[in-house]
Amino acid sequence: MMNKNLVIAVDGHSSCGKSSFAKSIAKKYGLIYIDSGAMYRAVTLYGIEKGLFSAGNIHQNALIEALPSLSIRFTYNPSLSRYETWLNGRNVEENIRHIEVSARVSQVAKIREVRQQLVQMQRDIGKNKGIVMDGRDIGTVVFPQADLKIFMTASLEVRTGRRYKELIGKGEKVSREEVMENLRTRDQIDSTREESPLRQAPDALVLDNSFLTPGEQMEWLENILIEKGLA
Ligand code: CDP
Repeated sequence: MMNKNLVIAVDGHSSCGKSSFAKSIAKKYGLIYIDSGAMYRAVTLYGIEKGLFSAGNIHQNALIEALPSLSIRFTYNPSLSRYETWLNGRNVEENIRHIEVSARVSQVAKIREVRQQLVQMQRDIGKNKGIVMDGRDIGTVVFPQADLKIFMTASLEVRTGRRYKELIGKGEKVSREEVMENLRTRDQIDSTREESPLRQAPDALVLDNSFLTPGEQMEWLENILIEKGLA
């Protein structure tokens, strides 16, 4: 029997398949799935649309002031079989995935006030629920008491290939080099920032999925849940 308040944290490097894995886990075990990265992306999109970036820098104070007025929600769209992110009542699922947002999101995610606000929202969403959340600081900061913490990674080559294919598939005009550079830069900023940097929690289990199929990943997880008496 599945414990209905099971909390699973999935952290790791950019574009290593955290979201796909977390979604499959949620589906299989009847948990709520939350993409914390989408929340940082939504705040970044807001900043771009409000003209808060100039010469590549963000006007931090203006963004911080706007934070309390931002509403970020998730819904599941059954006809497209996907989760969708809403910012102030508008569906922004497509917009937040563009490379322009990826290019700026790590700068926004460094800001302490942004993190405080989003971490609070993430904890509220997860309260008294079975949940799987993916991001960078879920096992270290958001849910340090998670039942299971997974730290995912894959080679930069493999991650670039996956994200490039995904973006090209959506009709975005990007080069492989641009994608690789974005992943490299984000990992660098995310791992070295002062506020809750990307770190492997001491009690996290590492999953390098460079050469694993989605089915093999799931088997890995099932065995762990059984071993831990969680499923
Ligand atoms: O899916 P992908 O690996 O491209 O990234 P994401 O999960 O959508 O996250 C986008 C960015 O948000 C990351 O590069 C981090 O800068 C930031 N982020 C964070 O700081 N903390 C989280 N819990 C999740 C994302």
